[in-house]
Amino acid sequence: MAAKTITVNLKVWRQPARDQPGRLVEYVAKNISTDMSFLEMLDVVNEDLIRRGEDAIAFDSDCREGICGACGCVINGIPHGPDAGTTTCQLHMRRFSDGQTITIEPWRARAFPVLKDLTVDRGAFDRIVAAGGYISAGVGGAQDANSILVPKDISEDAMDSAACIGCGACVAACKNAAAHLFTGAKITHLALLPQGDPERERRAIRMVEQMDEEGFGNCSNEGECEAVCPKLIPISNIARMVREYNRAIWRMPKA
Ligand code: SF4
Ligand code: FES
Repeated sequence: MAAKTITVNLKVWRQPARDQPGRLVEYVAKNISTDMSFLEMLDVVNEDLIRRGEDAIAFDSDCREGICGACGCVINGIPHGPDAGTTTCQLHMRRFSDGQTITIEPWRARAFPVLKDLTVDRGAFDRIVAAGGYISAGVGGAQDANSILVPKDISEDAMDSAACIGCGACVAACKNAAAHLFTGAKITHLALLPQGDPERERRAIRMVEQMDEEGFGNCSNEGECEAVCPKLIPISNIARMVREYNRAIWRMPKA
């Protein structure tokens, strides 16, 4: 079946640099195949801008397969757009209708400053992970899978949390710009596994404290993060993070 083409009216956030003001600029994207991804549509718009000697719209992407977490913008008010469990790069233009107006904005959070247009600095997430989201024990070569037995339901829960790609949509959706779902997922996936146990307390304390230092807000249980997460990470990860933190506070030796 031949691909249908549509015309969409775009309102795109253009901001030349972090310390400069931004505004919504209107563009008309014509002859857009409904088989294109959302980012391919932006590529077409950019090709046209470059042909006309104008500045291309800056946006992040890498894998374009929904696995790296690089992409992400707010599309008509929803981080990653209208499809549940879908990253911006996996959203397709068939989801939009001919003549529709689409407003495209960057993640908006104090801890994610805009770098240019639709790109934001998500270094705060890297610093949260660097604060404790790893296992530092030297474990040598890969061991036989049967040497550390992990019950299947627990390994599956850990892998569900490990599915977080660090995109930041949860922060963008939250009215408090909280990073609890991201941090909760990172703490949970290691807390559930025996390999993560030796550093469990230190990890929980350091990651939560780093999250606070970065300027993210507090969770008020709205569930907006869960609703937009492209990996469908449930807010039970936040409950576990709180439990892990409280447990760590009681168990860590006092200075
Ligand atoms: S929890 Fe979901 S929305 Fe938040 S960073 Fe991870 S994958 Fe993205
Ligand atoms: S570009 Fe990698 S998840 Fe979208």
